[in-house]
Amino acid sequence: MSGRPPQGRPGRGRPENQRTSDRPRSAPAPTAPLLRLQETDLAYSLLLAAKAMTAVLHHGRSLDQALTQNLGNEQSFAVRGAVRDLATTGIRQWGRAQVLIQILTQKPGLNPPLLETTLGLGLGLLWPSDAPKYPSHTVVNQLVNACAAEPTLVAGKGLVNACLRNFLRDTPHWVDQALKNPQARWSLPAWWVRKVMDQHPIQGEALLSQAAQHPPMVLRVNSRIGSAQQYVDYLAEKDLSARVIGPQAVLLDQPCSVDVLPGFAQGEVSVQDSAAQLAAPLLDLQDGQRVLDACAAPGGKTGHLLELANIDLLALDSSESRLNRVADNVERIAPTLDGDWRFNMKAAKAEALEDWWDGTPFDAVLADVPCTGSGVVRRHPDIPWLRRPDDSANLSRIQHTILDALWSTLKPNGTLLLVTCSIFREEGPLLAKAFTEKHADAVQLDAPGVVHPTADAAVSPDGFFFAKFRKRAQS
Ligand SMILES: C[S@@+](CC[C@H](N)C(=O)[O-])C[C@H]1O[C@@H](n2cnc3c(N)ncnc32)[C@H](O)[C@@H]1O
Repeated sequence: MSGRPPQGRPGRGRPENQRTSDRPRSAPAPTAPLLRLQETDLAYSLLLAAKAMTAVLHHGRSLDQALTQNLGNEQSFAVRGAVRDLATTGIRQWGRAQVLIQILTQKPGLNPPLLETTLGLGLGLLWPSDAPKYPSHTVVNQLVNACAAEPTLVAGKGLVNACLRNFLRDTPHWVDQALKNPQARWSLPAWWVRKVMDQHPIQGEALLSQAAQHPPMVLRVNSRIGSAQQYVDYLAEKDLSARVIGPQAVLLDQPCSVDVLPGFAQGEVSVQDSAAQLAAPLLDLQDGQRVLDACAAPGGKTGHLLELANIDLLALDSSESRLNRVADNVERIAPTLDGDWRFNMKAAKAEALEDWWDGTPFDAVLADVPCTGSGVVRRHPDIPWLRRPDDSANLSRIQHTILDALWSTLKPNGTLLLVTCSIFREEGPLLAKAFTEKHADAVQLDAPGVVHPTADAAVSPDGFFFAKFRKRAQS
């Protein structure tokens, strides 16, 4: 670690690493051997979490990719869970940690990047909370141990120790300082905060605060098997408490692993947010229809479409690897489907019709187009940090291209449902408006439009947009 040591407030004692920098230059400190960590040490999980955060925040990987990259098969289930939880918290708190790092070190950023994320993870964990994950002294000691165990962090151990202790010495002061910056208030990038507030002057604050909350776990009960209430009653017999929050939607009081959900492996129930569950029924599917799920992976809505009617379904996605998850989903629910249904999958870009369309038109098309994901930040806190301010404009262009191509595959009187999990207007109302202006044969039908998260975080849906169009038959 090079550069200036963190600044202590006047009269509050000198940061520890300043003491080490007083050594004569001619007598370098002997290199201490690296600390060896055990899997059971919190420091072990903290270090892996900081590495995953670095992959997201400095190398543009999604959190899922970063965790896969940094967690090998050798780690236990407990460590994997702890690392995921710590990295998720670290990224949720990154907006404020980044501001605090600047204030405490008086530098815009730290090098190497892992040093910055390690310190940021610590500051995020120490930020005042009603339910702190660990005692503050444990966080500091274990992060210092994590630094002592990692070659690229050893030199920054003193800085991490000094900054965290400095923060703990007068937390209210540093929090007050940080909160002068809106990025710290919402713990989201400044441009993201501005965009949400500009586009949603009334609901903006609610949307921003929802992004920081833990998402509820909502299930979709397979309508071939029974009703949402029947499943809630069944869960009660197994001492799992839940309630009905939508036609087939069940909210679990406590999130749990799908392995303990009765009927999950048998396809009787799937995990899907209540807003996402609105999509498939909007297509009013009938047995025998030919249906396209144009951007299908990972297949949450694919399964729902198949549960609703005996259709001939083609699932398309540009990502071949993500289509594996669609196949898994369909395989899981297939035993619950009786009757004459058909399913095919193809890896292709929806707009490249020549690569996948045989010219036979569809009765219904689900266009769950790629978007910024600005409506699902509470489930994927990495999203705002992976996006750039012009992403929604760029994605909106792709969305237009995909929609135009899909429209030509629809039968006269067929229905196309546009879905995005975004709260940005260019991926919602503005996209739908431009579509109807461009296609004279498109009749916009009733659909929920923008679904905003509500004040009650426990039951609030994700942010989504739905627009439904019927293709007018030529007269
Ligand atoms: C919002 S996700 C779809 C979610 C999915 N419908 C579900 O309910 O599980 C968007 C998907 O579009 C895919 N995609 C991106 N560009 C595409 C394109 N040009 N054509 C088809 N699929 C595309 C992505 O790989 C991603 O899986």
